[in-house]
Amino acid sequence: MTRFLVINGPNLNFLGRRSPGVYGTMTLQEIEAQISRKASEMAVAVAYFQSNSEGAIIDYIQEKSAEAQGIIINPGAFTHYSYALRDALADSRLPVVEVHLSNIHAREEWRSHSVIADVARGQIAGLGWRGYIAALEILAALVQEEEKGK
Ligand code: DQA
Repeated sequence: MTRFLVINGPNLNFLGRRSPGVYGTMTLQEIEAQISRKASEMAVAVAYFQSNSEGAIIDYIQEKSAEAQGIIINPGAFTHYSYALRDALADSRLPVVEVHLSNIHAREEWRSHSVIADVARGQIAGLGWRGYIAALEILAALVQEEEKGK
């Protein structure tokens, strides 16, 4: 069964109460439940991880990548400066989709730059929790297509 890692970075454990006007009113658990619903329809397995710590996220990527076919990640503020996370994603050699709930291109200027973007297949930003669902569908299609092409 295809298996994806869904990783959320710092402060995303506070979704629901954190700037709801920007990030929406759903909690991370509610978003994960929506992802799981979609994943079971698609017969895809999903493993979730959230941490406020850069090292814990990197350890998770290093430990779990061998058992996975792709990564969906919202790196939170690490998006904008974590070269260590960028390198861990690149070293995983897995297809990565970067997700942001808010439109990082329409906010403070420093948010519009992602150091992750060039190691990701693509980025989905500004579409709220549905961005994760879109990422799941697109990643599954890409992996399936690439498997066929082998
Ligand atoms: C975010 C955008 C980041 O700039 C911010 O630091 C976050 C959340 C988003 O989902 O819109 O923590 O990644």
